[in-house]
Amino acid sequence: MVLYFTGTGNSRHVARIIAKELNDELVDITPFLKENKTGDFISDKPYVFVVPTYSSYLPLIVQKFIEDSTFSGNKDVYLLLTCGASAAKPGVAKRFGQLCQKISLRFMGVEQVVMPENYITLFFAPSEKTASEIIAKAERKLPSAIEKIKKGETLRVKGRYALTTYLVNPIFYKLLVTDKPYYATDACVACGKCVSVCPLNNITLNSDKPMWHGNCTQCMACISQCPTLAIEYGKKAKGKRRYYLP
Ligand SMILES: Cc1cc2nc3c(=O)[nH]c(=O)nc-3n(C[C@H](O)[C@H](O)[C@H](O)COP(=O)(O)O)c2cc1C
Ligand code: SF4
Ligand code: SF4
Repeated sequence: MVLYFTGTGNSRHVARIIAKELNDELVDITPFLKENKTGDFISDKPYVFVVPTYSSYLPLIVQKFIEDSTFSGNKDVYLLLTCGASAAKPGVAKRFGQLCQKISLRFMGVEQVVMPENYITLFFAPSEKTASEIIAKAERKLPSAIEKIKKGETLRVKGRYALTTYLVNPIFYKLLVTDKPYYATDACVACGKCVSVCPLNNITLNSDKPMWHGNCTQCMACISQCPTLAIEYGKKAKGKRRYYLP
């Protein structure tokens, strides 16, 4: 079973390719999060999670979803982290490996898949041309990981774990994961798209203007999918290209 979470489409794109190649079921985690539900999953094939990297680890909302759900049948778990530059694999392997052990799943390793950067409230998304090239390169790299999953082999992680997963990640959540700077400009047409795409139901329309309510995971879904480019994050995203892979 291939389960994915995405803010801007990268992880869904990778998950679709993997599920097709493995001839396996594809499950979107977001509807579970939106309904505040956990899952009781059954699969005779390994569980493959495809999710974005948030500050050198998987999104904590996904970690919590995995911890609170049940996984029957096959006990093997693979983790595929899409990222803009590096997923800090050794640190992720250690931390996520411990989580798998705690919930009686067998961690089979982590692979990173470099995809276009989407963190536009801090960095920049690549141009359309560069993004296409990055995606094409990622697609060429996928078969080797897929082959290993098919054969039931581990995805080997070399190197010492960097401290980013353990030290920087908590600071990131404390300082940077905030929705306070989000606002909508007069370009907003009250279409409700931001409301529907938020995986945490953190946005409502009040008097035809979106409001953010403090439960944000910085997935970039709202700011990147607004059809009129009306969403800003203080001055941080002004004039920057929005990135979204349909
Ligand atoms: C809040 C946030 C934190 C991120 N942290 C990292 C990071 O630590 N390393 C990295 O290489 N990319 C990082 N990225 C980039 C994303 O992991 C990357 O663009 C990913 O493919 C987005 O996946 P999605 O389109 O499925 O949401 C970050 C993006 C966001 C929004
Ligand atoms: S998606 Fe954009 S236009 Fe639509 S309601 Fe949200 S801010 Fe307004
Ligand atoms: S408010 Fe926007 S960035 Fe925050 S979780 Fe919802 S969609 Fe993602």
